[in-house]
Amino acid sequence: MIPKTSGQMGWQSPANIALVKYWGKHPVQLPMNPSVSFVLKESVVRIRMGYSIDPADQFNLNAFTLNGNENPAFADRIADYLRSLAGFFPFLAHARLNITSESTFPHSAGIASSAAAFSALALCICQIDAIIREEPVDDETFFRKASEMARLGSGSACRSVYDGFTLWGETTEVHGSSDEYAIRLDDQFIHKAFSSIRDSVLIVDNSTKKVSSSAGHTLMDQHPYRPARIKQAEMNLIKLLTTLRNGDIQTFGEIIENEALSLHGLMLSSNPGYILMHPHTINILNKIREFRQANQSQVYFTLDAGPNVHLIYPEKETKAVTSLIQNELAGYCQNRQWIDDALGNGPCMI
Ligand code: DP6
Repeated sequence: MIPKTSGQMGWQSPANIALVKYWGKHPVQLPMNPSVSFVLKESVVRIRMGYSIDPADQFNLNAFTLNGNENPAFADRIADYLRSLAGFFPFLAHARLNITSESTFPHSAGIASSAAAFSALALCICQIDAIIREEPVDDETFFRKASEMARLGSGSACRSVYDGFTLWGETTEVHGSSDEYAIRLDDQFIHKAFSSIRDSVLIVDNSTKKVSSSAGHTLMDQHPYRPARIKQAEMNLIKLLTTLRNGDIQTFGEIIENEALSLHGLMLSSNPGYILMHPHTINILNKIREFRQANQSQVYFTLDAGPNVHLIYPEKETKAVTSLIQNELAGYCQNRQWIDDALGNGPCMI
């Protein structure tokens, strides 16, 4: 029975950065290989949702604003997504929603706002469902469901419903892992060397990407390196989990750089091939490697599906990395822009 009810709901959810990359999928939004990421502290999306549910009404996204402005393209994607969830949440077929979304970081900064947004949306819907059902839900069940629902909006979003490090995709390495939802990697998996890891995002180019991630995933269907990529990701996952456990930052860094370069290698060798790196991306990667060698530093890089560079380093190197950015790398960034962020605490109700 769907009750007649109304209210307000809000969740804040973080962006995440993948260390072993999700690249390639099969229906419905299931990953070709397992991936691992960590959520960010400052880069978050806040979703506020006014809802009114009446069995006599039909689903309607009355209004949607993104950072105070109407955004019809994103509103359509969200409306389609919410409509698609009605099979799991029958109340949605009779819900009228007003949604506002705000993000703390610029659009196209090389930080996937869609992961944070779909995670926050899924958390709102799961929370409204819990209120309507009037049944207590334990945290594990609640966040697992939210992760599964977030995945249906954007694959990487399923990794944004927890704090810290997250694994998405079934692997014999971790009991309870699944292709359907992500799980949190708790303290037994994460050495304290990683407890205050940082991520500075260098914004080389903030224009919209020529090829979307969704199109990139599709190109993996027929990719000649597909079987090799699955093997490589599985091997990198095993090695990364070992380094996360034993605190070996050097091997950790080698793996994440290998994943970043392999991701872009897969784009170069797709059919048709494409290039998302900018000449300055490559200049920055070379500079990071030179700096590391000259200073016995532990700063490493990773890349998402775009030209911007994530610098990953332990907190104790913050001062050295800030001078590296200011003196050597900011000149390669659009308007000398970068964002300093760090391992985050996960989502919260607002
Ligand atoms: C390179 O999650 O954005 O960032 O599932 O089509 O929404 P869809 O794709 P998306 O892909 C992210 C790809 C990546 C790697 C990663 O985050 O694991």
